[in-house]
Amino acid sequence: MAAAVLLALAFTLLGIQNASAAAGSILTSVEEVDSKTRLTCTLNQRPTEIAGHRWIKDGKVVKEDTLAELSTQYEVDMKDRSGNYSCIFLPESVGKADITVSGRPRIKVVKKSAHADEGETITLACKSESYAPIIEWTWYKKVDSGNQLITNGSQNKYFVNSSETQSELTIKNLEVGSDRGTYVCNGTNSEGSDEATFTVRVHSRLAALWPFLGIVAEVLVLLTIIFMCEKRQKPSEELDDDELGSAPLKSSGQVDSKDKNVRQRTAT
Ligand SMILES: *[C@@H]1O[C@H](CO)[C@@H](O)[C@H](O)[C@H]1NC(C)=O
Ligand SMILES: *[C@@H]1O[C@H](CO)[C@@H](O)[C@H](O)[C@H]1NC(C)=O
Ligand SMILES: *[C@@H]1O[C@H](CO)[C@@H](O)[C@H](O)[C@H]1NC(C)=O
Ligand SMILES: *[C@@H]1O[C@H](CO)[C@@H](O)[C@H](O)[C@H]1NC(C)=O
Repeated sequence: MAAAVLLALAFTLLGIQNASAAAGSILTSVEEVDSKTRLTCTLNQRPTEIAGHRWIKDGKVVKEDTLAELSTQYEVDMKDRSGNYSCIFLPESVGKADITVSGRPRIKVVKKSAHADEGETITLACKSESYAPIIEWTWYKKVDSGNQLITNGSQNKYFVNSSETQSELTIKNLEVGSDRGTYVCNGTNSEGSDEATFTVRVHSRLAALWPFLGIVAEVLVLLTIIFMCEKRQKPSEELDDDELGSAPLKSSGQVDSKDKNVRQRTAT
């Protein structure tokens, strides 16, 4: 049983790393236990007091306790492990050590799908915030016969721009039939690789016009109906206007002159 546990425990001692402690030094280690990564900091000398421990990952406090032990541990899922960690023995004057843990990349995308019209240009972007940096980005398109590798400048259509933390694929002059589909970006670092997929849809210009043409047709039909109705009602409308016209016109005239008086009075 103990042997099995020991076997499952791939032990990597990183040793004393950036450690500073008022009373001696801090030993740090990174172990893999099943699917977890366990970080340990141990003071090699007992200071006058230990009020607790604090763990920080990439600038955020991830664990804190008020124990007085000489050793403190932090466990993290293997897939989330990459980052910059610090263990701090409290009060802060007691000691602090930094541990950088590298992991497999975790590729993230901002938008998983892109819709565009034919002839347009789109850009797909992949990011990796994990440590170690990406040393190779590859892009490909999924086709029936497998994966079709995309390289910068190929077909004068695909352009790839990559750095240690991100990669962008720009596709120019989109075509309805050939450019729709699934695209994949793959980032590889010293620890492994990860992928992200995109769905690209391309609409034909004509398809984009249909809703507009529909509205135009609707407006034309409406205008025709209104025009025909007006034509039919014209004779009676003219009568109505004559009958109703005189009385309201007078009253509105009076209002107008009153208004003028008021305005003149306020003006003087
Ligand atoms: C950790 O720190 C190193 C060097 O200070 C830096 O290059 C790296 O990007 C940092 N990693 C993370 C995940 O913040
Ligand atoms: C990609 O190709 C374009 C034009 O072919 C070129 O200007 C650019 O420098 C290339 N970029 C990279 C990262 O090679
Ligand atoms: C490549 O990316 C960098 C940084 O992300 C940017 O400054 C540069 O303009 C990009 N180059 C091209 C050709 O898109
Ligand atoms: C990404 O590419 C690398 C190198 O080409 C390959 O070994 C790896 O299997 C790919 N990653 C995934 C998740 O398919």
